[in-house]
Amino acid sequence: MKKVTLNFWLDVLLFLTFLGIAFTGSILKWVLPSRCGEGGGWRGGWGDAERLEEECSRWFLGVHRSQWLDIHFLLAVILVALVLVHFILHWNWILCSIKTNLFRRVPQSRIETSPKDCR
Ligand code: HEM
Repeated sequence: MKKVTLNFWLDVLLFLTFLGIAFTGSILKWVLPSRCGEGGGWRGGWGDAERLEEECSRWFLGVHRSQWLDIHFLLAVILVALVLVHFILHWNWILCSIKTNLFRRVPQSRIETSPKDCR
């Protein structure tokens, strides 16, 4: 597989994984909040028991909160691994850009945003 094709599919995977993390994270944060019903937040502590039970359901789309947490964590691990691969594939570019832009080993006037020698 050509490197450019590999980069493309890696970026697609990175994007989808990030969307999945944002989705599951939002569910954990706003749909099934952890402090719900403990009397600690704006929920719980007042209102009748029935409403509290409905608002504090631990299930969403047939999936339990602990499973949403597992999925969120798994996606986070996958994202970190994909970011590492992304760094490895662009390692030459990273080193070259640091040398050129940070340590200024070429005259200021010749520095480009993306130096053509960095690939
Ligand atoms: C829209 C973005 C995100 C939101 C709203 C979000 C929300 C949350 C919430 C509410 C929890 C705590 C769940 C609980 O224990 O009650 C959590 C846990 C966690 N989040 Fe996120 N998160 C987001 C993005 C991320 C990203 C980008 C990463 C890492 C790449 C990440 C990694 C984790 C990990 C490792 C945990 C702990 C999981 C566990 O205890 O098993 N999250 N997140």
